This record gives sequence, C-alpha cells and structure tokens, in this order.
Amino acid sequence: MKRNILLHPDPRLKKTATPVADLSDGLRRLADDMVETMYAAPGIGLAAPQVGVLERLIVLDCTPDDSAERGLLVMFNPQIIAQSEDTSSYEEGCLSIPDHYGQVTRPAEVTVTWLDRDGIPQQQDFSGLWSTCVQHEIDHLDGKLFIEYLGIMKRQLITRKMQKLKRERARA
Ligand code: NI
Repeated sequence: MKRNILLHPDPRLKKTATPVADLSDGLRRLADDMVETMYAAPGIGLAAPQVGVLERLIVLDCTPDDSAERGLLVMFNPQIIAQSEDTSSYEEGCLSIPDHYGQVTRPAEVTVTWLDRDGIPQQQDFSGLWSTCVQHEIDHLDGKLFIEYLGIMKRQLITRKMQKLKRERARA
C-alpha cells in the first residue's frame, strides 16, 4: 500500500527516529509500503519519518532505470561505522522537498551496518551515488534534511516556496 509522503516543513521531519527493537510483521509491512511508495514517486530512497513513522528504517535503490536488475536495499537501524576523508558532491533532491535541488558535499565512501528485512545483520561499503543516497536517508532518521547543508539564503528560499506549495495544496 502506498503511503503519503510528508512535505517539508513538517515537525515530524525534524525528529530523531527510534531504533527498531523487534522486527515485527508490522515493520516489514511498513518497509514493503515504503518500497512501493519510493518506486511510485519515483525516487531512489525513502526514510520512515517521511511517511510519518519515527522508526529507524530506510529503503533505497540507486540502480539506473534501464538496469535489468533492481538493487533494492531495506535497512533497519542503519549505522555509518566508517567514512572516507575524501568527499564527493552531488546535486541532491528529496521526495519531501519536490522540485528543489542543491549541491551537497559528503564523504565519498561510507561503510554501513544494518539489519535486513529478515533481521540479518549486514555490512557493506558504498561509493558514488549509493554513498550519497544512504547518507541522505540516514540523515532523515536524525531529523536532518539536505537543505541544511546549503547556504541559509537558499535554504530559506526553498522553505518559503514549500510553505506556499503546501498552502496551495491544502486549499485545493
Ligand atoms: Ni530525502
């Protein structure tokens, strides 16, 4: 089932999410809903707070559209345990801030641990777009949006435009 994606500004997008203690069927269903919501958007990553659930769960798939296989990852309690000193910069966007983009610099490579959909511990190194995406999604679990990496002028401009968009949608 597709879920509604919260739009910035929303207090729920600024909260720290809670670690998942037990992998219940309800949490697996939430993960499946998030995958459906992400692909439908379409997007390459989604974090549980974006659908209003303050649990540490993200889903991502950065494989190109024309790729035969999907590279879907479902991560409960993802944690960055190592990061490179060298950085890379990507034009980032966010399903909670549609149609706005900004250049964000982050560590080029990260090592992440997490529990997969079956509750099995996983560890993997990420680089390129995957590295950016996993860091962006983990930021959501700590109440942080990519616009916080931008200059204050650009951040305020985007926030004002989003407020306007939300007012228009509320009236529609
Ligand atoms: Ni995002």
